[in-house]
Amino acid sequence: MKKVIVLCGGQSSEHIVSRMSCQSVMRYIDKSKYDVSLVGIDLNGQWFELDQSLDVLTGDNWLSGAKDIHDVYGYIKQFDIAYPVLHGLYGEDGTIQGLFELAQIPYVGCRVLGSSVSMDKIYTKKVLETAGIPQVKSLYVKKRYDNTLVVVRKDFSETTQILEEVTNELGFPCFIKASNSGSSVGCYKVSEPEDLLNKLTEAAKYDRKIVVEECIDCIELEVAILGNDDPIASRVGQIMPHGEFYTFESKYEDAESQTCIPAKVEQSIQDKIREYAVTVFKAVDGHGLSRVDFFLDKKTNNVYLNEINTMPGFTHISMYPELMGDFGIPYSELIDRLLALALER
Ligand SMILES: Nc1ncnc2c1ncn2[C@@H]1O[C@H](COP(=O)(O)OP(=O)(O)O)[C@@H](O)[C@H]1O
Ligand SMILES: [Mg+2]
Repeated sequence: MKKVIVLCGGQSSEHIVSRMSCQSVMRYIDKSKYDVSLVGIDLNGQWFELDQSLDVLTGDNWLSGAKDIHDVYGYIKQFDIAYPVLHGLYGEDGTIQGLFELAQIPYVGCRVLGSSVSMDKIYTKKVLETAGIPQVKSLYVKKRYDNTLVVVRKDFSETTQILEEVTNELGFPCFIKASNSGSSVGCYKVSEPEDLLNKLTEAAKYDRKIVVEECIDCIELEVAILGNDDPIASRVGQIMPHGEFYTFESKYEDAESQTCIPAKVEQSIQDKIREYAVTVFKAVDGHGLSRVDFFLDKKTNNVYLNEINTMPGFTHISMYPELMGDFGIPYSELIDRLLALALER
C-alpha cells in the first residue's frame, strides 16, 4: 500500500480555506487503498501529525492530540506520495514543492516553476503574453525596499508617477491586487483617484509586487484542468458572486454567491475558453491539476484570462471538484487520479 502524506493549513492568508479543502479530501480519500497520514502546518510554520479521529479540521481544536514534527525532512522521507492540500504562499507557490523535489517524493499538483509563476499575478501575465492569451490592461507597481512605490514599466525602468500612469493607462474604477495573494485577500476595487495610494499601501502589506488592472464589468468563468502532458478540460463553470465583486466573504461565507455549470454563455465562447485553459496550463508547465479563471466582458464579449490556480479550492462543493464531477469524475475518483498523476512523472 502506498504511503500518502496529506498536508493542510500552512502559513498563508488562505490557511483556513486549506483546512476546509482538506476536510473533504480526508473524508473521501480511499483509505483501503492508501496508508494515509495527515499533517497540519500552523500559521507559524510548525508541522504536526494530526489525530485522524478528529471529525472537524476547521475547528479551533484541530491540533488536539497532534504530535509535533521536529525533523520535517526526515519525516517526509518515509512517504511515497505527498498531497499538499495547501493554498497560497508556501503551499501553492513552489516553496513546499521545492522541498518535495529535494526529498525526491512525488507530489500532487504543479511543480516548482508552474506553481510559482501561477501564484504570482504579474509573472503569470508576463508568461501568458508569450502564449497569446488575451489579458486585461494592467500596470505593475512595486514597493521598493526603501518603501517608495513605483510603476515598473515593461522594460523594467521605474517611475514614481503612479497616479498619472494609472489615470492615463487604466482609469477608474480599477482593481488593485497583491501579486502573490489569493482568496481575494489584498484585493481592492478603487473607484476614486484619492483612494489609490491608500489601497496600494494596503496591498503592499501582502506583497511588494502589486498589480493594478482596468476594471471589467464581467461574467466570471472557470475551467478545471486535469492531467500531465495531455490534460483534459472540463466544461465551463460560471461564478455569480453576491456583492460588488468576488471577495473573501462572498467566496466562503455568503450563501447567496452561486455557481452554475455549464455557464450561461454562448457555446462558441465556452469552446474558446476551454481551448485557452489548456494553453494556459501548458504555458506554465502545469502538472496534475489547475483551475483557470476568465473574465467575459459583458459589453464587448471579449474574453480575458484572470488567473490560474494550481491548487484550487477543493471542498466537495468547490468549483474544481464540481466541474470534474460534471465531467464524470466523482470526488473520490478525482483524488485517486491526482495521486496516480503524481506518480506518473
Ligand atoms: N480586473 C478586474 N475587473 C473586474 N473584477 C475583478 C478584476 N480583477 C479581480 N476582480 C474581482 O476580484 C476577484 C478576485 O480577484 P482574483 O484576481 O481572482 O484574485 P484571487 O487570487 O484573490 O482570487 C475576482 O474573482 C473578481 O470578482
Ligand atoms: Mg480568483
